[in-house]
Amino acid sequence: MSVTKTFKVARLQDIPPGSMKAIMILNHDILIINLDGILYGVEARCPHKSYPLKLGSLKKRALRCGFRHVEFDIKDGKVLFQPIDARRPARNLKRCG
Ligand code: FES
Repeated sequence: MSVTKTFKVARLQDIPPGSMKAIMILNHDILIINLDGILYGVEARCPHKSYPLKLGSLKKRALRCGFRHVEFDIKDGKVLFQPIDARRPARNLKRCG
């Protein structure tokens, strides 16, 4: 059985298009990203070496880790650019707004 809970974590105007905001909810670090007016939530640590993705950057539909510069598709977590061996997609990525 799947259980879905909804939490108000920010106002839309707090996260304008092309920006991101780190939050903690239920002991999970989450990064909320506004991509063209749609909010996405992603686990806030890079799946490669757990670098905080809030220190990375956004480039069109890609979230770029600031450590080794792996780029993840914001919409589905797939690796778009991989300068090193980091094959796991971002975890728990889902549209949240
Ligand atoms: S920690 Fe992000 S690419 Fe290695």
